[in-house]
Amino acid sequence: MSVLPIVTLGDPRLRLKGQEVDSFAKYLHELLDDLTETMRDAPGVGLAAPQLGVALRACVVEVGGNLHELVNPRIVRSSGDDRDLEGCLSLPGFVAYVTRREKVWLAAQNRHGRKIKLAGSGLLGRAMQHELDHLEGKLYIDYLDSMDELIPVGAGEGGEAGSEELATPLA
Ligand code: CO
Repeated sequence: MSVLPIVTLGDPRLRLKGQEVDSFAKYLHELLDDLTETMRDAPGVGLAAPQLGVALRACVVEVGGNLHELVNPRIVRSSGDDRDLEGCLSLPGFVAYVTRREKVWLAAQNRHGRKIKLAGSGLLGRAMQHELDHLEGKLYIDYLDSMDELIPVGAGEGGEAGSEELATPLA
């Protein structure tokens, strides 16, 4: 397991569409382990393979102490709408309000290729949708009408929104 550098906005690898995983062996297991370790080190609530420069449909989500490894995930059902702040480890220093589905149901595979199902709402549901977007080369800023909607956070100039950063999950 390794903490690896996270690809950031401007790197074309972030925009590649992930390929379907068809080998559930050592390479995938090491990728999933690296995703988890890098996500926890950041820290964040999710991380997708394209954020490590790997164009495969694999990601991890960890909310409330529950780690989910999702391979070839797809949304099979969704309900409601939920608008909340969201941030991305590939766009450090900013968050924005994004409208997502309130609840989603996924079908995916685990690291051994077995079919799994996962439903999530609130933060888990948001993180799942955020990671699935990464597998399509999509970022949350794609939902914004203008980059003016980005809210700066952290210890940059001013840093007045620092408390918001703590409350906003990054994935
Ligand atoms: Co992200």
